[in-house]
Amino acid sequence: MNLKEEILKLKKERNAIILAHYYQPANIQELADVVGDSYYLSEVARDSKENVIVFCGVRFMAESTKILSPKKKVLMPVLDAGCVMADMASEEELIKLKEKYPNASTVCYINSTAKVKSHCDVAVTSSSALNILRNIDNEQIIFLPDKNLGGYISEFFKGKEFILWDGYCKYHNNINKDQILNLKNKHENAKILVHPECKKEVRDIADYVGSTSGIISYATKSENIEFIIATEEGILHELKKRNPDKKFFIPGETICCIDMKKTTLENLYDTLLNMKNEIFVEDDVAKNALRCLENMHCLAK
Ligand code: 13P
Ligand code: SF4
Repeated sequence: MNLKEEILKLKKERNAIILAHYYQPANIQELADVVGDSYYLSEVARDSKENVIVFCGVRFMAESTKILSPKKKVLMPVLDAGCVMADMASEEELIKLKEKYPNASTVCYINSTAKVKSHCDVAVTSSSALNILRNIDNEQIIFLPDKNLGGYISEFFKGKEFILWDGYCKYHNNINKDQILNLKNKHENAKILVHPECKKEVRDIADYVGSTSGIISYATKSENIEFIIATEEGILHELKKRNPDKKFFIPGETICCIDMKKTTLENLYDTLLNMKNEIFVEDDVAKNALRCLENMHCLAK
């Protein structure tokens, strides 16, 4: 059986669309209808005409899709593909923090659970965060769960007080300045492109800081031919596809988000064949989390 052909056949029969994040395995990205960063995928999911959305990514992405499209069936090839950073923020602790800062606006990174989102004013992604913060008329901001993205944003808004959660992505947070400088020693002309989930010491030596789609677009437009890429290695697929003559180097040779790599052709096929692994979000959580996600789309403009 040719799995790829079978998946495409089933996709038509089920009136489904397959979305994949840039960190997904290369064969999944190749098969997907749309590949993108968190923000773009959230817009595509919201606007898609298909009845079924198969989300190849991690849980918070599929949950956000379900919240934005409650009437559609949202499926995930692997239900337990989670995000270590999203799991670092709990609803209970957030409620306590909000009590301590009752006048603050609460802003969450989209990498958070639906329950956490339901207590927040607005969600942001790495590509939309700066625009959204510009549109928030409050000097006090609780930002969670990523202290690195929060720290990065706060550098652009010196007049605001940021109360940062102590969360981080274990993969991005592990990247060190020395690893980048070692690579730079070997490839003197390389530009350093960094995801804002990285630590300040890494962001500070970057030529560009931005989301996965921002990094891809920077490298594609640039006349440079060598790049040091400080983010998850799944991004290399699209980078090389769009720039076959350019060279990309990852610090430590590998940065691999295990949960993003749980999707396979086999479990994607199984999901579509049996219409299994459906995502559900409790009604009251979904109602409030929807407000938070709608505010994201509205304030990002
Ligand atoms: P992007 O929004 O840049 O795609 O990032 C999502 C993510 O999970 C990064 O770790
Ligand atoms: Fe979460 Fe990090 Fe994986 Fe992104 S790379 S999904 S932040 S664990």
